[in-house]
Amino acid sequence: LSVPEFSTPRGTVDILPDEWRYWDFVVDRARRVAELYNYRRIETPTLGDVSLFVRATGEATDIVQKEMYAFRDQGGDDLALRPEGTAPVMRAYFQHGMNRLPQPVKLFYIERMYRREAPQRGRLREHHQFGCEAIGSADPFVDIEMLALLRQFFQELGLSHLALHLNSMGDSACRPAYLQALTAYLESRANELATLDQDRLTRNPLRVLDTKETKSRDVVSGAPSILDYLCEPCLEHWNTVLEGLEALDIEYQIDPALVRGLDYYTRTVFEYRTQYESAQSALGGGGRYDGLAETIGAPVTAGIGFGSGIERLILTMRDGGLEAPPPSQPRVFVAHLGSEATVVATKIATTLRGEGIAAILSFGNRSLKAQMKAANTSGAAYAIVIGEDELHRGSVTLRNLETGEQTKLPQSEVVSAIQSSP
Ligand code: HAM
Repeated sequence: LSVPEFSTPRGTVDILPDEWRYWDFVVDRARRVAELYNYRRIETPTLGDVSLFVRATGEATDIVQKEMYAFRDQGGDDLALRPEGTAPVMRAYFQHGMNRLPQPVKLFYIERMYRREAPQRGRLREHHQFGCEAIGSADPFVDIEMLALLRQFFQELGLSHLALHLNSMGDSACRPAYLQALTAYLESRANELATLDQDRLTRNPLRVLDTKETKSRDVVSGAPSILDYLCEPCLEHWNTVLEGLEALDIEYQIDPALVRGLDYYTRTVFEYRTQYESAQSALGGGGRYDGLAETIGAPVTAGIGFGSGIERLILTMRDGGLEAPPPSQPRVFVAHLGSEATVVATKIATTLRGEGIAAILSFGNRSLKAQMKAANTSGAAYAIVIGEDELHRGSVTLRNLETGEQTKLPQSEVVSAIQSSP
């Protein structure tokens, strides 16, 4: 029965003890892989300036138009719950003078993000992302290294059947001509588009390309491809990335309709998707953002990154029957009878924990029989029993819960006996 008045806000969830084995596993692998690729951890505040997110992600994006949890605080500051991780990392890079370090500066984060989306399976209003950002280098091999990192991350989780979608967004030299061609094309067939996409066409024509509306599919499939419009430097970057991926045997799918939902992208963009096509199939995505620094008032600085949703990773693992390592079990259950024995038991349990041995201390005045029943279901390997007899002798009974074997030993020998037991 739940508390009638209160439950988690829509689109947010409690992460319960049974789920932590997955969380610990995914976070542990994220950290490990990031460190193998020489990324260093950063965490930015959950609160950020509204205008940082507006300028970085773009006025016409879903995040800014309808999803940001933004408010004015009592002091008159306009703040938002962080909807994404890239803008604040770029802000931190300049705020702390990381532009003066050897480049690129490679940073990773495991943070909560907030977006007021319509909740669905795998789509939350508060979610967690593992993200990496490599700032300060336009070298296409940074892109290649990042895609290798992501592949290894997914492989280590056991998610080997993901499809890597790849595209280029061009840059400020070549994108305008493409946008013009795209807009002209879409306008010429506007009456065949779904109403929602007709609306997008006026605000952000690129977004029409990743439409989910069946009605628009036909029009979109005939749209001009940005890859035919890339300028010489963008084309060279693109070709180097493809060659690098081939050299590393990283499979990819060129997808000219992949435009991503944030305005800061230039050149390489990518998304890893599960094969089960659904709105929530994206397990990680990102790309280059060589123009982002400028939009937030900093000197032009190249960068590339990705974010991967941890809730979605765990859902996909569980759907695929993938297990996370079981949590470690307590070693010892400490049972006792009578108030004096309780004090001794508390001391022994505390000593065991001080030696790094996980112990469960029995609570309440329960019969020894009831306590042994609890010990057997607790997952502990051993029980220690302190009854009246043991109390008087200064001893304990040590019981192997698997074999039922029992021995008596002095209290002072408990720690070493357990340490030397299998
Ligand atoms: P994004 O594609 O908006 O990119 O989010 C990255 C990933 O976070 C998605 O692929 C998905 O796995 C997960 N995700 C996003 N929204 C939700 C949600 N409502 N519920 C559950 N999971 C979600 C970014 O945020 C960029 N900052 C990524 C990036 C980093 N680009 C460059 N650097």
